[in-house]
Amino acid sequence: MTEILQIDPLSPEADRIVHAAEVIKKGGLVAFPTETVYGLGADATDAEAAKKIYAAKGRPSDNPLIIHVSSPKDAEKYAYTNDLYYSLAEAFMPGPLTVILPKRDTIPLSVTGGLDSVAVRCPSHPIARALISAADTAIAAPSANLSGSPSPTCSAHVIADLDGRVDMIIDGGSCEIGLESTIVKIIDEKSAVLLRPGAITYDALLCVCEKVDIAPSVTAKLAENERPLSPGMKYRHYAPSAPLVLLDGEYSDVLDFMCKAQKEERCAIICYDEDLPSLSGEMIVSIGSRDDAKKQAARLFSALREADKFKSDIIYAHLPSKYGLGLALYNRMIRAAAHTIKKI
Ligand code: TXA
Ligand code: MG
Repeated sequence: MTEILQIDPLSPEADRIVHAAEVIKKGGLVAFPTETVYGLGADATDAEAAKKIYAAKGRPSDNPLIIHVSSPKDAEKYAYTNDLYYSLAEAFMPGPLTVILPKRDTIPLSVTGGLDSVAVRCPSHPIARALISAADTAIAAPSANLSGSPSPTCSAHVIADLDGRVDMIIDGGSCEIGLESTIVKIIDEKSAVLLRPGAITYDALLCVCEKVDIAPSVTAKLAENERPLSPGMKYRHYAPSAPLVLLDGEYSDVLDFMCKAQKEERCAIICYDEDLPSLSGEMIVSIGSRDDAKKQAARLFSALREADKFKSDIIYAHLPSKYGLGLALYNRMIRAAAHTIKKI
C-alpha cells in the first residue's frame, strides 16, 4: 500500500514532514517534489534502502543515484570537496545543480553503482529541504518514474508509475523547472565537465569555472560499447511508445511539413503555441511559446506523456536549439527520439 500525503509546497506542514521522514529513517521509500522533477528517496547511507529504489523503478543497478543534502557543507560527510565545489555551491546552491565528487565510505557502493565517486545535490524546493533536514541524513533519489518513462513533474505522474511500489508519495504540486538538474563532474580546482545540461546553463557554469568541457554524450549518440562519463547517458530515456521524430529545418518549413503529415499519417504533434492556428485534429500538444524555453522545459515531460496517450503511429516535434536552456531541451529530446532527426 502506498500512502499519498498532501503537503503544502510553500509552507510544508511540520507534522507531515516528520511523518514522511520516519518512513525514510525506517529504510522505506518516499517520492517527493523538488524544483526540477519528483525524486524517489531513501536513506543514502542505508545500502538495503538504496537497493529498494532500483527494484521499485526497474533501474539497472550500475546506474548511480544522486544524494540530496540540506546544506552544501553537508557534502563533507559523504564526499571529498574542493574550492571549486564551494564556488559552485555559492553560485548555484540550493538549486538545480548536481556535482560529482570522490566519495567517502559513508555512502555504500550500492548507491553509486559501484563507482568511487558520488553525485551531490542540494535542492531548493521547501518540501525537499524540510524532508532531508527531518530525516537527518542524505537522501538518495533518482527521478520518481519507472525506468524508461519520462521524469515526473507532478504527483499524478508519480502515482501513474509507482503507486503500489513505494511506501509514500508526497503530493506537493508541480515542479517549477521540469527538467532534471545540471550535472557537472569536478576535474580540478578550475575545471569541470558538463555531463547533463539543465537549468544551470553552460554559460552560467563558465562564470564560475575557468574551463567547462561538454561531454560528447550530451549532444551525440554514443558508439556501441562506448562508456559514457555518466552511466545514465547510455540508457534509452523518456521513450514514448510511438517513435518520436525531431524535425530540423527553417521554422516555416517544419510547420509546413507538420501540416502535410497530419493529412497523410496518423501522427501526433508536439508543437509551439504559434503553430496551433495552422494545425488541425486532436493529436496535438503544445509545450509553450517558441521563444519561451523556460515554459517548454516545464511542459516537455508532461507533453511526452500526453502525446503517448494518443496511440498515434508516429510523433513529430521541432528540434530545439542548443543555446542556453535549449541545450537541456535538445539533450532530453534527442534521447526521447533515440536520435532520430529528419532534415526538412
Ligand atoms: O534533478 C534531478 O537531478 C533529479 C531530482 C530528483 O533530484 N534526479 C535525477 O536523478 O534526475 P536520476 O537518477 O534520474 O539521474 C541521475 C543521473 C544519472 O544519469 C546517473 O548516471 C548520473 O546522474 N550519476 C549519478 N552518480 C554519478 C556519478 N558518480 N558519476 C557520473 N554520473 C552519475
Ligand atoms: Mg531519471
